Amino acid sequence: MKQGPVLIFDSGVGGLSVAAALRQHYPHASFCYACDNAWLPYGLRDDASLAERILAVCLSAVAACQPSVLVVACNTASTLALEKLRWHLSIPVVGTVPAIKPAAALSQTRHIGLLATRATVGRPYTQELIDRFASDCVVTKVAADALVSEAEAWLAGQPLDKARIHTALMPLWQAAQPRPGVSTLDTPAIDTPALDTIVLGCTHFPLLQPWLAQLAPVPLQWVDSGDAIARRVGQVAEMLMVMNPDSRCFTTGPADHLTEGLARYGFQPAQPLSLTH
Ligand code: DGL
Repeated sequence: MKQGPVLIFDSGVGGLSVAAALRQHYPHASFCYACDNAWLPYGLRDDASLAERILAVCLSAVAACQPSVLVVACNTASTLALEKLRWHLSIPVVGTVPAIKPAAALSQTRHIGLLATRATVGRPYTQELIDRFASDCVVTKVAADALVSEAEAWLAGQPLDKARIHTALMPLWQAAQPRPGVSTLDTPAIDTPALDTIVLGCTHFPLLQPWLAQLAPVPLQWVDSGDAIARRVGQVAEMLMVMNPDSRCFTTGPADHLTEGLARYGFQPAQPLSLTH
């Protein structure tokens, strides 16, 4: 197995939620963070150019960090480009996909919510996960790209716009109330059960989870992919002890405003990532 740090990649600061889960599982491992903040947000980009861009940035970040494993800490990137990345890289590539399976296992009411970027909500990969693991559940899908910029602002120390977050989540709050069905002459009314579990299908969203839970009209179960990714990384990578204790960070765009936030997650001030591929 190749030696080197765990490289965590995202469009922006969302991968820090995955970095936190990885550090909790492997406190002595060495990490590198790369984000493509010049192209943020990924959730509103077209698939073809985004797939090319993800490949170019990941290959360049792998060249800069020499990692033992690449963690694609982005649902929008993973549901589009995992195959392509695995084809081009000789190290293991661990992806992040919406945690539909654990959410379906938790839900008592059999109604779950999926909160993700517009791109992830619409991807065939996401629908396959729903068909495979939650076919007996009602799944309310909500695209909430506004939360990506809110999470970016929060990490940079700016105040959250709670009204904007509340508006983005309104379809989920409505689904959290039971809805009476409508009967016709031929069919009896079937009530839609209240949603009780929400999948955070974008890695930016766990950074906001305490505020999301505060705004929710009723207590809900929140599920993200952090722990599952950490367990998977442990299966495919040799977790090296403090090879480079000062975890490096690379960005494609300006990042001075992120320095304090990165430090809270154990990363050095960002260096520019040159695209070599
Ligand atoms: N953090 C990313 C995800 O998990 C996407 C954010 C973006 O739209 O760039 O999907």
